Amino acid sequence: MSRSQERAAGRAGGKVILLGEHAVVYGRPAIAAGLPDGAVARAQLAPPEQGTTLAVSPWNVQVRPDPEAASSLARAFAALVAAAGYAERAIRVEAEVALPGGSGLGSSAALGVAVLRAIDAVFGRARNDSELLEILLAWERVFHGQPSGVDGALAIAGGLGWYVRGQPLEPIAARRPLLLVVGDSGEPCSTRVTVGEVARQRERNPERMDATFDAIAAIVRNGRLAIEHGDHVALGQLMDMNQSLLAGMMVSTPTLEEMIGAARAAGALGAKLTGGGGGGCMIALAADEAAAANVERALLSMGKRAFVTRVGERSP
Ligand code: MEV
Repeated sequence: MSRSQERAAGRAGGKVILLGEHAVVYGRPAIAAGLPDGAVARAQLAPPEQGTTLAVSPWNVQVRPDPEAASSLARAFAALVAAAGYAERAIRVEAEVALPGGSGLGSSAALGVAVLRAIDAVFGRARNDSELLEILLAWERVFHGQPSGVDGALAIAGGLGWYVRGQPLEPIAARRPLLLVVGDSGEPCSTRVTVGEVARQRERNPERMDATFDAIAAIVRNGRLAIEHGDHVALGQLMDMNQSLLAGMMVSTPTLEEMIGAARAAGALGAKLTGGGGGGCMIALAADEAAAANVERALLSMGKRAFVTRVGERSP
């Protein structure tokens, strides 16, 4: 089989932000971890008369790259193929997303990275992480307006990392792995909307918002120390503090607050929303497997989807 007929695959994972969302857009650090599930894409050259297409399941959509389209996926795909240098080629891409969209778990970044990797594989092209992120940002800008790049950095590299806008993701060596329970509020969230709301608040009151971002940065710095020293009690408290500041920025919701309260009552060391907020997911830190199962049960009994994930494991 010639390379043009072969289907090349690319994959990428989602992410959870442990500490620092929103403030990271304004140059403060964030700590985030990759999730094993994300997106997988397969690409192959198409006959020129068919042009380029992207089909995504289970969303049941197929788009052509089009910078003027109403569909944000079509506009994002156009931005990605142009930034990657494939605007003149005809490529057929089929992708599958394993994360709920609009839930704060980085599904759009995972999809973009998987698509880019699959197309690059068709052309036998290798790029380093910062080149991949640069192209991915063109895709993410369509969905998120002014992304910090944290979702893309985690989709590309995975693991547990320290991220500052414009800098490479720095891996964090956790003394002990972290057990997180992820709960989905089921309320669709738009990072573009909440990032826009935070930007408006900052325009109205720059001093107050910058002080909040600085307070979050201090929490993130202490959170890194807690992770490196294996002090999960301290980390849980820092997650709670971060949540109070996020609620003050009006990006939490009554449902997220209810889930966070239920997780704490079920024994979580700390809990907060994760990602853009305004709906989407929350995370809770558990001391051990039994505590994680308790927290998960509490969220499931509210009729929410929940799962347990372990982050910060050292590679063998
Ligand atoms: C979204 O996962 C995280 C935000 O901080 C936006 C961004 O960093 O691009 C809300």
